[in-house]
Amino acid sequence: MWGGRFADSPDAIMEEINASIDFDQKLAAYDIAGSLAHVAMLGETGILSKDDAAKIAEALGRIRGEIEKGDFTYSRKLEDIHMNVEARLADLIGPAAGRLHTARSRNDQVAVDFRLYVRATIEALDGQIAALQLALAEKALTFAGAVMPGFTHLQSAQPVTLGHHLLAYVEMLGRDRGRFRDARARLNESPLGAAALAGTSFPIDRFATAKALGFDRPTANSLDSVSDRDFVIETLSAAALCAVHLSRFAEEIVLWATPQFGFLRLSDKFSTGSSIMPQKRNPDAAELVRGKSGRVIGALTGLLVVLKGLPLAYSKDMQEDKEGTFDALQTLSLCLAATKGMVGDFVPDLARMKAAAGAGYATATDLADYLVRELGLPFREAHHVTGRLVGLAAERGIGLEALSLTEIKTVEPRLTDQVFAVLGVENSVASRTSYGGTAPANVAEQAQAWLDRLKTP
Ligand code: ARG
Repeated sequence: MWGGRFADSPDAIMEEINASIDFDQKLAAYDIAGSLAHVAMLGETGILSKDDAAKIAEALGRIRGEIEKGDFTYSRKLEDIHMNVEARLADLIGPAAGRLHTARSRNDQVAVDFRLYVRATIEALDGQIAALQLALAEKALTFAGAVMPGFTHLQSAQPVTLGHHLLAYVEMLGRDRGRFRDARARLNESPLGAAALAGTSFPIDRFATAKALGFDRPTANSLDSVSDRDFVIETLSAAALCAVHLSRFAEEIVLWATPQFGFLRLSDKFSTGSSIMPQKRNPDAAELVRGKSGRVIGALTGLLVVLKGLPLAYSKDMQEDKEGTFDALQTLSLCLAATKGMVGDFVPDLARMKAAAGAGYATATDLADYLVRELGLPFREAHHVTGRLVGLAAERGIGLEALSLTEIKTVEPRLTDQVFAVLGVENSVASRTSYGGTAPANVAEQAQAWLDRLKTP
């Protein structure tokens, strides 16, 4: 491609470090789409003859067919996807192929290809996240009233419901979708026609190519166009945060599936056994979702580091934007699918969850609130009285509800046997009716609202 200036061919190691075709062949379909838009514009503006433009477009269509069928032979000698396609074009139509690259550079070409890839991938991920939200919201509606312990510091805090807990993830995933949507909206400008870095002297129509490729408008600054990878970084940040959400949930699944917690049973489809310990049901899928989040975070960090010292405009360092991104977005997609699979068929042990919800004096706050409401104690004093009752029960190794009224009265003589109703976990959750609270009625309403939202596109 640049034989005019060079007498010698590249060293084998030069070829190895330079070639990106092993991974950027993933951009093939977008590369052809970009070239088709470009050549149509070159024909329309009279920069190329209609005849040449038509010949090139037809041959590009043929190449697309070869790529789709797997008949295309990629060559490392041709470095990257752009030159592989162009070389094949020359095989097919001869010297006219050389006219396609008029008013274009690989710098704007790769920027277009990558934006198109990221845009399409965001759209696919959005569908997957929505599907996971739906699976979670359905389970949340089913288990809107299923009492389980809520934790702070991983210590029993107050009873909540399983539905409430699952809806917390639906909220997180909703924000993730918003972040992907924002990234998509901002990336949707076309760098095509920025050429190498300075624009071009040919009378191109960047608005036409932008429109043909579904972009909202062309990018406004040619230097920025070829050196900007913000769109990838934004997308990877959204991906990293989404992966972190999945990882937190995966961690809970791992805990809940232990015999010690025993809150749920993962299906055989999402568990593995041990080759030595016959009793084991390991939550490998959840562990891998948790583990793979590291790769997604790594890709984000990696690209930030690649870019941080790069002067404008294009440097070859930027070719390092692709492998990590491909891997991260593919990994996120797999984690979303695995999480949806686990959510779809895990079976909660409602009795164990409920029993655990009452353990650890989780209704102590309810008792303190009751003392405020019924006896008019200031909350700090109610906290103190309740603490003494918890101490009494703990000394005897029993729950608050197992204390006798006589014992209770030794701490606060004004209490009556009405107090026992407050100590039940069902009453506890039912009383949390504040907006966004864990009362089963609230949870059912929120789950239904999500289902309605998710089912109307
Ligand atoms: N394979 C290159 C990349 O991914 C394409 C752009 C090459 N541009 C250049 N000036 N060498 O970044």
